[in-house]
Amino acid sequence: MKYKTLLARLENLSDSDRIPLHMPGHKRNDSLAGYLRTLGARLDITEITGFDDLHDAQGILREAQDRAAALWGVRKSWFLINGSTGGILAGIRALVPAGSRVLVARACHKSVFNALELCRLRPAFLQPEPVPGWSFAGPVRPETLAEGLQRYPDTRLVILTSPTYEGVLSDLPALVKLAHDAGIPVLVDEAHGAHLGLFGAFPAGAVAAGADLVIQSLHKTLPSLTQTAILHCAGPLADPAAVDRQLAVFETSSPSYLLMASLDGCVEWLAEQGRQSLPAWRERLERFRRETGPLHSLRLLGDEPGFPFVRDPSKIVIGSGPLTGRELKDRLREEYALELEMAGADWALAMTGPGDTGETLGALAKALRCLDSGLPAVPPPEPLPVLPLPEAPLAPWEAMERPAIHLPLEQAAGRISAGYLWAYPPGIPLILPGERVDEAFLQGCRALTACGVVLHSGERDGTLRVLPE
Ligand SMILES: Cc1ncc(COP(=O)(O)O)c(C=O)c1O
Repeated sequence: MKYKTLLARLENLSDSDRIPLHMPGHKRNDSLAGYLRTLGARLDITEITGFDDLHDAQGILREAQDRAAALWGVRKSWFLINGSTGGILAGIRALVPAGSRVLVARACHKSVFNALELCRLRPAFLQPEPVPGWSFAGPVRPETLAEGLQRYPDTRLVILTSPTYEGVLSDLPALVKLAHDAGIPVLVDEAHGAHLGLFGAFPAGAVAAGADLVIQSLHKTLPSLTQTAILHCAGPLADPAAVDRQLAVFETSSPSYLLMASLDGCVEWLAEQGRQSLPAWRERLERFRRETGPLHSLRLLGDEPGFPFVRDPSKIVIGSGPLTGRELKDRLREEYALELEMAGADWALAMTGPGDTGETLGALAKALRCLDSGLPAVPPPEPLPVLPLPEAPLAPWEAMERPAIHLPLEQAAGRISAGYLWAYPPGIPLILPGERVDEAFLQGCRALTACGVVLHSGERDGTLRVLPE
């Protein structure tokens, strides 16, 4: 029997004469206000009879999620309606008990740091390789993980991010094998890689590598509404029942059927059109690179000969030559109506998806050629210094829960931090609660500030929360 999508079911309900004496308060009556009509309120319900229960899926949501699991070829998949963020929090808590030692790639999203705090974990960090010639982190090398596992034999979980925000992939098959050989599960934040490995159009990702839990934001790189993501159980070392329990902790008890219909629609689209559409997107990306041609001032990540890592070609990282990343991003917006995803110190990022057409990518290629022709050739800038990992006498949660004082960074030498200090760009934490501020660290901070990096501690007056002596 042909699969009936969630969207079709919502449309049937909307056309029926059933009177909604339940949430939400608009009652699917979009004649109340224009915004309800525009936003599709006639299809907006939460769990009612016949529509299953996300936190105990036995009916149509189970069927929809099973269909996703079959498409990705995994043991089980869960729809996520508050982004990868919710899946990361739930996945980490499902894999390890409070207080456990975890090995974590340092350049991870703040949801991972939040999980470390909430689950009272004891992290040891894996320093990613720098990307030669660029100021952002690359992959975690298997050698780095092997060393970490040897140094911390009490490790209970490995947490990796691949691809990075900028589209650099780690060697996940080797990393997962190392952890699995030691009986340790692996969680991969693959928020930026939902398209990886599908129909062979892009490099393979965490599912093919057999990672135990894999979290993907469908909304980032596939055609699905903002906030929609998916969690897969691909490897053998995760307990699906534990994931169920934790998703109920971190996700709303009133999940949006509009968002779930989008997830289901995206799976349907992949099943029906992915085999053509994903390779066609890849082909448009190849054409974009041909149309851009050689640049003499700007540069594209991956064009350098001998680029040492595997890269996701859907991410277009543009070195900004004599401009700052922000200037490049602003000029592309103001002069060419191109809105990029983000700007780093000396680069900017254009994210692409299957919704990009030959015209949108052609417009970017043309704008880059035009801009480049008016810019002087300059040697690539020196990459920003990578700070060594600080000593960590306390776990993040231990430091955060103690009474703290505020000190200007320069006066904090020798203290244990009770807060985060973030560097923007590239948006990574330089120090975590529980780590010691030392002179080498302060010198590194000065060097970053001298390169135009802004340091944020989250405190209004710019001070750092530290523990009293
Ligand atoms: C690497 C990475 N992981 C996780 C997330 C969180 O994803 P979401 O916005 O879907 O919650 C992000 C968001 O930008 C991210 O860049």
